[in-house]
Amino acid sequence: MTRILAVAMQKGGVGKTTTTINLAASIAKIGQRVLAVDLDAQGNLTQHCGIDPEHVHPTLYDIFKAEMDGQPYDTMSAVYETDEGFHILPSQPELSLVELSLMNTLSRERVLSTIFENIKPYYDYILIDCNPSLGLLVINALTAATGVIIPIQTEYLAARGASMIMSSIETVRTKKLNPTLQVDGIMLTMADTRTTLTKDILEAIVQQYGSDIKIFEPIIRRSVRFAESAVAGESIISYAPETQGAQAYQEIAKQLVLGS
Ligand SMILES: Nc1ncnc2c1ncn2[C@@H]1O[C@H](COP(=O)(O)OP(=O)(O)OP(=O)(O)O)[C@@H](O)[C@H]1O
Ligand SMILES: [Mg+2]
Repeated sequence: MTRILAVAMQKGGVGKTTTTINLAASIAKIGQRVLAVDLDAQGNLTQHCGIDPEHVHPTLYDIFKAEMDGQPYDTMSAVYETDEGFHILPSQPELSLVELSLMNTLSRERVLSTIFENIKPYYDYILIDCNPSLGLLVINALTAATGVIIPIQTEYLAARGASMIMSSIETVRTKKLNPTLQVDGIMLTMADTRTTLTKDILEAIVQQYGSDIKIFEPIIRRSVRFAESAVAGESIISYAPETQGAQAYQEIAKQLVLGS
């Protein structure tokens, strides 16, 4: 069965895109067939994979549009290979229009799920990079997913935002859109492990969520190499393999795949 992981958090800039590309590269490196999906009109994941969202065609936008208009389409026509062993379903700025069109669409929460249906046999893992909202596109991701990964920036008050995504997940379960949706874990990102404040935040998050939800270890430390890797259009796994960040994402990917 294909595992579909939504990387979701409504707060902006917490490391969703960074987590998606680096887990995609790490899971592919273990030998799994991986598709990374850019569900954000900003197109950051697309760009991070070395593709210009302004000049790629077709994209996820075209696939959404065809599905909503009842036109025939082939999801694989919008799938591209990366140099890192995984595939990408890119986005373009017009994807932001989809959010509105979905309002008037039948089964508006299940469009992404339908789009994935005929490509699932090609992949062991589909990772979805969600936009920073709790809008209909994110609800589509939560409806299509088997599990959610929640990145939380390791800073004061950051954990507060987690309760909102948790309640969206609960709504998707109770409204029977996806009763078996699970939270695969919380990913702590951008940590400055030298400060005692970080240790306090870590403790607070473990106390609040640790009894129900896995908190992935190792936590991802802050490093300027992540931003550099985005500019280079590569994962940190290929850009700076010796860094703590590259090692940590690969370790977490192993835990996800091997289930420890
Ligand atoms: N561990 C880290 N250390 C330092 N910088 C990081 C780290 N992880 C990500 N970044 C940088 O922080 C910025 C935000 O990260 P990213 O784009 O992954 O967040 P996001 O949650 O996807 O943002 P958005 O909500 O806008 O989609 C980027 O410039 C990224 O390169
Ligand atoms: Mg992003």
